Amino acid sequence: MTAVSVKNVWKEYDGRIVLEQVSLEVEPHSFIALVGPSGCGKSTFLRMLLSAEMPTKGDILVEGERLPGEPTADRGVVFQRYSVFPHLTVLENVVLGKEFAASPFLGKLFGKAKKQAREEAAEILTAVGLGDFLNLYPSQLSGGMQQRLAIAQALIKRPKILLLDEPFGALDPGIRAEIHVLMLKLWRETKMTVFMVTHDLSEAFHLGTRVIAFDRPRNRPEERERYGATITHDLAVWPPKYPVSDTHIASGGTTRLLDELEALPGRPGVGH
Ligand SMILES: Nc1ncnc2c1ncn2[C@@H]1O[C@H](COP(=O)(O)OP(=O)(O)OP(=O)(O)O)[C@@H](O)[C@H]1O
Ligand SMILES: [Mg+2]
Repeated sequence: MTAVSVKNVWKEYDGRIVLEQVSLEVEPHSFIALVGPSGCGKSTFLRMLLSAEMPTKGDILVEGERLPGEPTADRGVVFQRYSVFPHLTVLENVVLGKEFAASPFLGKLFGKAKKQAREEAAEILTAVGLGDFLNLYPSQLSGGMQQRLAIAQALIKRPKILLLDEPFGALDPGIRAEIHVLMLKLWRETKMTVFMVTHDLSEAFHLGTRVIAFDRPRNRPEERERYGATITHDLAVWPPKYPVSDTHIASGGTTRLLDELEALPGRPGVGH
């Protein structure tokens, strides 16, 4: 069973072809890194996976079913720039994600459901390292913390597919390395299928199980209007990355997130 199947997808804007003949079969629990020059249609491709845009031609199937015509809770998204609400606290931002998933029209939960949503939000915020900052406002957080918050907001909907559009592009290298560890942990534990656009090839190979490059095979100025970008490279990343349970077995059960975090350069070591 494929998680996502893209069948001969084309995308045009006002008669200008942006993407052409894009076909792709994605296994469940893949981490697909998408790379390619600016303007080649990477974000457009992600927006089609989200149903924020429709293909001009072709089909996108998720677990064998045609994509619904609008975004749904099973597809989460994180953008490069923080998409959090400035007037809500860290906790409220994540609870709101749950409320919209549970009640799209009202956007509110009450009583026991609200209490459960707050507990679940606090748990996910703890998992992304924001457990001590539940009552702060986004403006009181660093860039890396705001991006963790955006990830928590996407995760509370328990998406099967997570779409990341240059999510770590604006972060300092040290913070990036920490978020990479966190991202791999979340990907392993949740069994999500992830699509991540990045301009950073080393990030693509570090996080991805597969790196896919988009480019325009024909790029002379007079050809730009008539031909779009397509998949030009599709590389399986070696060595393969395993879900956490397999890693546990391979390492004799000793792999833990804290160990991985502690092993990062520049971190105050506990027992390292
Ligand atoms: N809503 C739209 N209407 C018209 N043209 C659009 C629209 N959205 C994107 N485009 C065009 O489609 C092309 C691809 O844009 P897209 O944002 O997908 O590129 P990208 O690969 O994500 O680039 P970057 O790496 O700079 O983020 C660009 O030429 C852009 O101008
Ligand atoms: Mg883009």
